[in-house]
Amino acid sequence: MNKMPIAVIGAGLIGNVHIDLAARHEDVSLAAIADPGDAARQMAASCDVPWFADHRAMLDTVKPKGVVIATPNATHAPIALDCIERGVAVIVEKPIAHTVEDARRISDASREFRVPVLVGHQRRHNPIVRRAREIVASGRLGKPVSATALCTWLKPDDYFDTTWRRTEGGGPVLINLIHDIDLLRHLFGDLESLQAVTSNQTRGFEVEDTAAVVLKFRNGALATVSVSDTVAAPWNYDLAAGEVERFPRQDVNSHYLCGTDASLTLPRLELWEYRSGKGWHDPLTEERTALHAGCPYTEQLRHFRAVADGVEAPLCSALDGLRTLEATTAVHVAAKTGASVTLPGD
Ligand SMILES: NC(=O)c1ccc[n+]([C@@H]2O[C@H](COP(=O)([O-])OP(=O)(O)OC[C@H]3O[C@@H](n4cnc5c(N)ncnc54)[C@H](O)[C@@H]3O)[C@@H](O)[C@H]2O)c1
Repeated sequence: MNKMPIAVIGAGLIGNVHIDLAARHEDVSLAAIADPGDAARQMAASCDVPWFADHRAMLDTVKPKGVVIATPNATHAPIALDCIERGVAVIVEKPIAHTVEDARRISDASREFRVPVLVGHQRRHNPIVRRAREIVASGRLGKPVSATALCTWLKPDDYFDTTWRRTEGGGPVLINLIHDIDLLRHLFGDLESLQAVTSNQTRGFEVEDTAAVVLKFRNGALATVSVSDTVAAPWNYDLAAGEVERFPRQDVNSHYLCGTDASLTLPRLELWEYRSGKGWHDPLTEERTALHAGCPYTEQLRHFRAVADGVEAPLCSALDGLRTLEATTAVHVAAKTGASVTLPGD
């Protein structure tokens, strides 16, 4: 099978992960790098692929079949639209865009030009999450009723040396909680409304360091999510799932999904259910599913190829990215107004 040639636009922290994986992937090949930075030019030389300062010049010269957009959030929409208009399939890193309006533009263009757009919520591609989704979809939990998610950890002080991380939009809501909201939407379905309180009390920056969020799903289930990047705690999907090599793995759970018949933890996939008798006087049985974590970014590239070939439907479409962004930005609105925010539906 011929590999699908893809280009990476934006060769920074996460762009380099995509470059590295694309360069040795079974289904895609690295065709070019577009990023005005000198480090990107050197990276392209070391990968023996053409380098471009401007993504449009790259698109028109190399004509890749697909691109990964890993640039700063505010540039996602203009770059994605340039790709979509040229018929080039897109993975755009999360958040899909800087604003809900830009996200809608990408989603509309993807539909209008019939060009697939995937959003880089890579957790959806982890075999652990795939299994959890199968379990929930199979009905084994019964009716989904409640979920608890923890996103608690400690970012080092020098992380905040960069100004934008201390100001609005640079906090754990848009950087981290967005992944938890997307994961919960992936498992329990679309959201109806949310309430939230945020705090900047510990670090004292303009941006929040902590948030408590209550989610209501359209199926009636409720979830609470506790997020903080200023606490000495291991309960965070990134630490627990060991998905990202730069974080030390902690053998804990971060998500608890409860239904009328059984409950499930993530990422350890502990399934708790009654096997004889059913009530609080009866013992619950714990079943564990042994699953090795796979690299979700590698799987995401395999899926990208399959979507571009029309063999698979997007696991995280532009519309999914839009819905997740709407909910995440609504956290700040809910915190400012103190009111419940109703989320748009289809
Ligand atoms: N899914 C994940 O796990 C994950 C992790 C980290 C970052 N991200 C997302 O990836 C994106 C990039 O984040 P990062 O941490 O790698 O940022 P970064 O600052 O490390 O890298 C961004 C790169 O984009 C380049 N760039 C800027 N404007 C450009 C343009 N117009 N055309 C081409 N290149 C341009 C910069 O030179 C830089 O090399 C952000 O949207 C972020 O939210 C996702």
